Amino acid sequence: MRSKLLHVTVAAAAALTLVGASPANADRSSDHGHGEHFTVIGHRGAAGYRPEHTLASYELAARMGADYIEPDLVTTKDGVLVARHEPEIGGTTDVAEHPEFAGRKTTKSLDGVATTGWFTEDFTLAELKTLRARERIPDIRQHNTIFDGRYRIPTFQEVIDLAKRLSRELHRQIGIYPETKHPTYFRKQGLALEPKLVSILNKNGLNRRGAKVFVQSFEVSNLKELDPELNVPLVQLTGATGAPFDFVDTGDPRTYADMTTPAGLRDVARYADGIGPDKNQIIPRDAAGFLTEPTTLVRDAHRAGLIVHPYTFRAENTFLPADFRSSAVPNEYGDLFAEIAAFRATGIDGLFTDNTDIAIAQRDERLAAA
Ligand code: G3P
Ligand code: CA
Repeated sequence: MRSKLLHVTVAAAAALTLVGASPANADRSSDHGHGEHFTVIGHRGAAGYRPEHTLASYELAARMGADYIEPDLVTTKDGVLVARHEPEIGGTTDVAEHPEFAGRKTTKSLDGVATTGWFTEDFTLAELKTLRARERIPDIRQHNTIFDGRYRIPTFQEVIDLAKRLSRELHRQIGIYPETKHPTYFRKQGLALEPKLVSILNKNGLNRRGAKVFVQSFEVSNLKELDPELNVPLVQLTGATGAPFDFVDTGDPRTYADMTTPAGLRDVARYADGIGPDKNQIIPRDAAGFLTEPTTLVRDAHRAGLIVHPYTFRAENTFLPADFRSSAVPNEYGDLFAEIAAFRATGIDGLFTDNTDIAIAQRDERLAAA
């Protein structure tokens, strides 16, 4: 059985030494999610409050108490890993307002889907740095739009530097939870993400047991290739539908549903330490949007030795199960506390959230009540 997970007392000293944080805070700072501590991952930073994947978003998540900040990684033309949810940047930057880049607009097949816009791999880092980030969903998160135009696209190294600086300042370690985005897509363009990821983790002293790092991917083959190269835990992301694109690309008929059966999970456990499922795989919804009975996924994953970090927990009604909506208004907040409590009752080890403050408050309330 593979396991690169370390428990709190083992991980703490080495991890804290790296960033110069205080060992006194080891109990809060170095869990890997299995038992001692419920792990809160700042999804795209604090995406509920700032434009996603900006240093401001990551910093806010850390200050709200996130155990980990989560950069999704893509690459530039000159091979620099940067934080974006996808290679197309028209939806999260002001690139459309840059006439000098009008000629870069194009249509590409992104994992089999025709996608029109501007793509990170067609820009050098210097060019990308002339852009500014924007809120992805301004209709839902109008309050975030006041931050439009204020932040640049960060490199992965800048995210690591931020985590190190905040670890020192906050006296607890801020982990990083990078995701390789569209690995097959980039590899086919001669811009494989994985060597760059390994190189940066090595350079920063983060490729070692006990480093507060998880590496995640929706694809399988790249995680298998990373397994012997990385000493940090790997997380296999899964979707409620569909299949890993590397499987689709090579004609492998297996789907995420196959991978999340007990036998499929045992296979995942050969190269990964955890799964990151769509939360609907843990508690499905009925046709009206209400939660139904939990599946056996958490139990099955634990039996296979895998931790479970589902995604994505968000406060707005439009993202919540009908059980916890406050109204029919999509952008109003519903009861995210209740949703988190319902999912924690299934035994999950942590979660990805756009609202770190609420997840931390829920965790603190639960600890106080224990
Ligand atoms: O990585 C966990 C979660 O972030 C997966 O979904 O699309 O937000 O990257 P996505
Ligand atoms: Ca992600």
